[in-house]
Amino acid sequence: MEERNTETTGAMNPAIIVSANPVAMAEQAAAEFLRLSEQAIKERGVFLACLSGGSTPVLLYDLLADADLYFEKSVFFFGDERDVPPDHPESNYRLACEHLFRSDKGKSSTIYRWHTEMRDREETAFEYETTILRVSNQFNSVIQRDNFPVPRFDLILLGIGEDGHTASLFPHTTALHESQRIAVANFVDRMGIWRYTLTFPAINNARNIIFLAAGEKKAEAVRMAVTGKADISDIPAAGVRPVEGNITWFLDEESAMLISAEVEKFQHQAK
Ligand code: 6PG
Repeated sequence: MEERNTETTGAMNPAIIVSANPVAMAEQAAAEFLRLSEQAIKERGVFLACLSGGSTPVLLYDLLADADLYFEKSVFFFGDERDVPPDHPESNYRLACEHLFRSDKGKSSTIYRWHTEMRDREETAFEYETTILRVSNQFNSVIQRDNFPVPRFDLILLGIGEDGHTASLFPHTTALHESQRIAVANFVDRMGIWRYTLTFPAINNARNIIFLAAGEKKAEAVRMAVTGKADISDIPAAGVRPVEGNITWFLDEESAMLISAEVEKFQHQAK
């Protein structure tokens, strides 16, 4: 990967890496994921990584499964989960097991998932929040923000929906306004379903955030999120603004097609 552009752009100061296509984008993102894991392990002896669901990360997960990822020194969490059992085809945990954790090394990873099989959704969320804080604290990665404990993940991997949602922070949902809890159950009226998600306090205290987005259908949401001009109720991804951390957007040419001005200024056109 080329020398990272240390300059930043837009209201949220993201770096933007535009690749020719989704495969090249996954390769660039994999290189950064590995760089961050090595940096975290070197500095603190562990890599606390929070994974995304959806289809975009699959190529990345398959690349990482075969790479020198230090699985034994990494601890994995999930930024969100569907309201389904862990073996359900729509489960983000199952997706990660089938791709990122499919190798022998991967199968021995330390993974903390949402216990969606519990009967009470509030209990599932509260238990996951407790686990995140307990494990992060074990690795000196919990800080007090506005007198509330928040985890400090080394990396949070995020996607973005066409409607501007990220994790399971969907437009006009209750979780967008959560300022104390770090993990909640979130009812998505538009879809009539429950989801589980980290909240902005948990996401915005990460050391590093990687957004992945590919395809023309994401271009408008990416534009609204990167320029930081959108109301977060309409475009929740625009609310991802780390307090003390970095954001890097890994895009392909289609998803970046509406932000050429920002990319030109600080572009990092990956070869
Ligand atoms: C999920 C994800 C979600 C995802 C976006 C984009 O549980 O689905 O966490 O936030 O990143 O919906 O999904 P695609 O990658 O499938 O476009």
